[in-house]
Order: sequence, then C-alpha cells, then structure tokens
Amino acid sequence: MTESNPDAAYELRSVSKAYELGGRDVHAVQEVSLTIAAGEFVAIAGPSGSGKTTLLQLLGALDRPTSGEIHFEGRDIVTLRDRELGKLRLHAFGFVFQQFNLIPTLTAAQNVEIALAPSGVRSDERRTTVMRLLDAVGLAGRADHVPGQLSGGEQQRVAIARALANEPHVLLADEPTGNLDSTTGTEIMDLLLSLSGEGGRTVIVVTHDGDIAGRAERVLRMHDGRLLPSRGAAGDRVGAESF
Ligand SMILES: Nc1ncnc2c1ncn2[C@@H]1O[C@H](COP(=O)(O)OP(=O)(O)OP(=O)(O)O)[C@@H](O)[C@H]1O
Ligand SMILES: [Mg+2]
Repeated sequence: MTESNPDAAYELRSVSKAYELGGRDVHAVQEVSLTIAAGEFVAIAGPSGSGKTTLLQLLGALDRPTSGEIHFEGRDIVTLRDRELGKLRLHAFGFVFQQFNLIPTLTAAQNVEIALAPSGVRSDERRTTVMRLLDAVGLAGRADHVPGQLSGGEQQRVAIARALANEPHVLLADEPTGNLDSTTGTEIMDLLLSLSGEGGRTVIVVTHDGDIAGRAERVLRMHDGRLLPSRGAAGDRVGAESF
C-alpha cells in the first residue's frame, strides 16, 4: 500500500461494490479510483442505477466496499472496525437526503437539536448552537415551526442544519433537490455550495439534474458503476445537458 495524500479529503483506489441478489452479483460500483481535495464541492451525476447512491454510501462509511481502498484524511477507512466507523460517521460526515427525513412532531429547532452528539452541554448552550445552525441556513425565523408549517425548501434547509450539527468535515447529499421545484433546488444547491470550503468542509452532492450538477466545481459522471473519464477542467462543467 502506498502512502495516501494527506491534503486530500478522499483517495479511492479501485473501489468496487457488488451486491448478491438472487444468486447473481450486481456490480453497483466498479473499480472507481479518484481523489477529492479537502474543501472541494463535487457533484456525482449519472443515470438511474449507475451507482451514485452506492458510491455516496461508501464515501460516508455507511457501507463497506467489496474491494479497494478508501482513504479518508489519510487513513484507509475500509480497515476500521465497526465501532471506529460509527464514531467517524457521527463526527466526520453529515448526510442530507431527498426526502428530508424530519420528525413531523418536532419543531425545526428540535429536529436539529436531536442530532447534536451527546456531550453534556447545557440546554441553553445547545439552544445557542441550534440557533446558530438555523441561522447559517437562513432559517432563524422558523425555529419553532414544525415541518408541516415549512415549505419543501425550508424543510431541506432544516435537514442541512441538522447535518451540520456535529461540524462534519464532509457533507454528503443524495438528490437533495429531487423533491423541490427548480428555483428552490437551485437555492439549495447554492446553499450547499456556500457551505463548502468553509473550514475545509468538503461537499459531495449526488444529482441526475444537469443544471444542478453544473453548479459544482467538478462533476464526476458515472455509468454502469464506473466513473467516466473526466473531460478536463472546462468540460467538467456540464451545463444543462441531461443524464
Ligand atoms: N442493496 C442492494 N442489493 C442489490 N442490488 C442493489 C442494492 N442497492 C443497489 N443495488 C443495485 O446497484 C445498482 C446501483 O444502484 P444505486 O442505488 O447506487 O444507483 P443510483 O445511481 O443511485 O440510481 P438512482 O438515480 O435511481 O438513485 C443498481 O443496479 C441497483 O439495482
Ligand atoms: Mg440513488
């Protein structure tokens, strides 16, 4: 094993993930090698079934690859035990999903607060942290609304605030604009873009929407589980083409 690059958030080497289904192997991710710099904003694009979610789950240590190495901040997380992986998931990664996954009976503030790692912090300090997080996503004025009293875009902002609760180094979002109209989707993408780079925070967004992907610094395109060759700096901006 060669040394990994300490400046990279991620270095993936020949990462594959196969699922066995009905006696057959499904090769969801195949031989993916890539580097993602700390603070980078990256979109992962590609048609349905191309392996985007599977790759994102591997990056977030929600699943283990069948083979290959995933170096995160200089160490191969594939070799970590479940306990260490659990800690890493809690502190290093924040997740955002297409369905906002908020608890309907809790207010925006409470939805964010339950994500704060248990740390013996006093409740007034927790409230301050929650309000800072809601403010960062432009929702300080909606802290006491339950999800049913929020628009889709606002609900996704709460979900993003929740994902930021433990100051993750990486924010991983799977189709975060999939349930939103295009204007709101663009606003959410701009918010995610603004969150990248800050304190070295890396943001990785899965989308099949070319307009949305086009806002990223770099677009990784997948097809049949494989990463397509990059088209270079200019070609990485895919604009409005569809996937
Ligand atoms: N748990 C699983 N068991 C078996 N096959 C799976 C499993 N999860 C995903 N797959 C298969 O792996 C392939 C990649 O799936 P994945 O969900 O990563 O695609 P995707 O690019 O995210 O698609 P979409 O845009 O529809 O969300 C698909 O062929 C899918 O059917
Ligand atoms: Mg998916």
